[in-house]
Amino acid sequence: MSIARSLKDADGVDLAFYKDLHPPLSDFKSDILDGLSRPQKSISPKYLYDRAGSALFDEITRQPEYYPTRTELALLDTLGAQLTALAGPGAVVIEPGAGSSIKVRKLIDALDHPACYVGMDISGEHVKAACASLSADYPRLPVGAVCHDFTAPLEMAALDLPPGKRIIFFPGSTIGNFDLSDALGVLKNFHSWLRPGDALFIGADLRKDASILEAAYDDAARITAAFNYNLVRRINRELDGSLNLDRLTYKAHWNPYRSRVEMFLVATQDQCFTVAGKTFTLRESETIHTENSHKFTPGTFIDLAARAGFISKQVWVHEKTPYSLHWLECCEKT
Ligand code: TRP
Repeated sequence: MSIARSLKDADGVDLAFYKDLHPPLSDFKSDILDGLSRPQKSISPKYLYDRAGSALFDEITRQPEYYPTRTELALLDTLGAQLTALAGPGAVVIEPGAGSSIKVRKLIDALDHPACYVGMDISGEHVKAACASLSADYPRLPVGAVCHDFTAPLEMAALDLPPGKRIIFFPGSTIGNFDLSDALGVLKNFHSWLRPGDALFIGADLRKDASILEAAYDDAARITAAFNYNLVRRINRELDGSLNLDRLTYKAHWNPYRSRVEMFLVATQDQCFTVAGKTFTLRESETIHTENSHKFTPGTFIDLAARAGFISKQVWVHEKTPYSLHWLECCEKT
């Protein structure tokens, strides 16, 4: 890889490289209309994260009831020497859905002379900003940014990476936000980016008491509720919608049979509304599904990963709050 530091692009961002793989733009209007037209109304969670939504999400992660962020960070802090050994020298870190997160800094700090870091996100602006901030903090680390939808295939040769061991870092139990079959697809996709011996270092939240789970996804300060209401406001604003927030509330429900927290907007009264000129009715107690967060046991997650071609090298579980980090190795391809 022709990684040189201080290769500034047109925006003056200090990155070793920037590759725009032109992920297809999603169509907000048709996705929302499609979801609201289903018998079980739904809104795709990917639209939760506009500017206001991302700020609200940051606030969620600081709520006392929202244990995953805190727990994963605490767990990461205990792993330094083990990560150094598992990764070996000269590793190449790839982060799909890169944030400006302090989590990846903990990984990088543990590594022995990492060869480079590659951030990836569906938003080019977002990934460039996140990578520029990381690059500023690690002046000797080559940092590249890729604009790509991590659920889509990727020809790794196009990235021209250095030869070191590849480590895909996917924290936050984001894998749990996909339906299980889609989660398997994401894991298979990551597997296709790796060679035998390369690794996936991934966070997976674990099953626990319903009361703890429901509180984490419906905090007392109602920030998660506000995060959902923000989506309704966005629909009203951008799609000329007339959803009445005074007749909606927010509810998180633990479904033990599907092992997931299910999030809903719930109608408190009947309402008729329009979105982009289309009329919908919502009856009292009817729900609009907004998101799921699947919870695993170490075993169910290892089984899922095995189906994608990974073998479990190491699992760490937080001693007080069940949350797991997995070091999964890509086995021989069949
Ligand atoms: N990956 C996070 C999780 O499942 C995402 C998340 C946390 C989330 N709280 C949320 C998504 C509320 C939508 C609504 O824990």
